[in-house]
Amino acid sequence: MIAQNDRTYDEYLDRTRQQRMDEYRAFLRFPSISALPDHAPDVRAAAEWLAATMSSAGIEHVDVSETGGHPVVYGDWLHADGAPTVIVYGHYDVQPVDPLDLWRSPPFEPVVEGDRMLARGAADDKGQIHAHVVAAGALLATRGALPVNVRYVFEGEEESGSVNLNAWLEANRDRLGADAAIISDSGFFEGNIPAITISLRGLLYTQIDVVGAPLDLHSGGFGGAVQNPAMALAAIVTALKGPDGRVRIPGFYDDVVELADAEREAMAALPFDEAAYRESIGVPELVGEVGYTTLERRSVRPTLDVNGIWGGFQGAGAKTIIPAHAHAKVSCRLVPAQDPDVLYERLRDFVAEVAPPGVTVSVRRLGGGRPSLTPVDHPVTQAAARALEATFGRPPVYIREGGSIPVSASFESILGLPVVLLGFVQPHDNAHAPNEWMDLGNYELAIRAIARTFDEIAASGV
Ligand code: BES
Ligand code: ZN
Repeated sequence: MIAQNDRTYDEYLDRTRQQRMDEYRAFLRFPSISALPDHAPDVRAAAEWLAATMSSAGIEHVDVSETGGHPVVYGDWLHADGAPTVIVYGHYDVQPVDPLDLWRSPPFEPVVEGDRMLARGAADDKGQIHAHVVAAGALLATRGALPVNVRYVFEGEEESGSVNLNAWLEANRDRLGADAAIISDSGFFEGNIPAITISLRGLLYTQIDVVGAPLDLHSGGFGGAVQNPAMALAAIVTALKGPDGRVRIPGFYDDVVELADAEREAMAALPFDEAAYRESIGVPELVGEVGYTTLERRSVRPTLDVNGIWGGFQGAGAKTIIPAHAHAKVSCRLVPAQDPDVLYERLRDFVAEVAPPGVTVSVRRLGGGRPSLTPVDHPVTQAAARALEATFGRPPVYIREGGSIPVSASFESILGLPVVLLGFVQPHDNAHAPNEWMDLGNYELAIRAIARTFDEIAASGV
């Protein structure tokens, strides 16, 4: 039965708001940056804290489970006899915080600014994990049961490419039997319109290293006679994408599945204000691949970007050298049915082809993930849609997102599960940037929407 107006649940949440905020802040205080080896103890401490918090919420069989890298925190509640089973996924690791000087308050000292929680991970993804744990705790405290069986899988290396997760899924098949997976690591549409994400891009992440002489050279003594690694790298990077916004790696677009006309029309019909979007990002002009709209460019078209580039002298004043080496982090966002393994080889071969003489160039891969499509018509998606409508007062829009969540494709390919991307953050929440924030109104309603989703799944069956 769907608890249309579950007053006890609402009253419990009203009564426990302060405690919930304190707990949320405690979670945000762990600098669980998965990409930086120095933070490994912090990632583990966050996992231990999360496990303890899940146990006190009433989630059972909680386990900080080892992987080849940072641990997965698993827990379940499996007493809803005859009801469907869902896996709930989120990640407790966060992105690095530099540039630190642009934060209004230290990234791991959470503060509430108006109706926002400000801290690294507030939105991506600790706030969403916490909403799930609170939702389960409140249901168990008020009803003594969850309406469905739930297995929680909280990952500790999503932000660094989920490199050990597929092996963990394979090894833990036994405790991952389910009817569907709910991933809460996405968000709402522009204007904070409730949304369910129906596709994600994949990612191929690489580093290009260009090496010249073993040491920096005097640019007067040697300039003109040797290749400059920084300039060679600039030439390589320039060759990767044309002024038309098209990636120039041969075969890059070969496997791209174009959207059907009806799908392009559905995207064009979304309430999207391009000028407001441009302004909220703070750029003078939007640019991208010719022939596609901004929404298409940022979600259903593949692209290539430099994430960072460095080499040579960076200090104040002038230092006359030819740098010994130069480096770039280069990543491609991929769409169905592009294969990151195939594209890695194509990128590597193309870089070798365009590399200027006089330097040694190498390309290495730093993780990534496959693109994924999720089913709109699946009963669990529709249950989530009804829950969003009931909680947020309007039906969700179905959106295609440009970001990547590697586990989405893995749930499908390894566990054979349909995936529902049910996330609650706002699109301009500064995820991965300074001053990340979570809208506390969305956070509070997320807790209600999660419980309602479980009720709707139980009521509809799967
Ligand atoms: N929450 C994001 C993914 C996301 C972003 C979904 C925007 C929907 C909209 C996730 O934490 C993330 O940032 N993923 C990484 C994955 C990568 C390291 C493999 C990404 O997209 O860069
Ligand atoms: Zn992220």
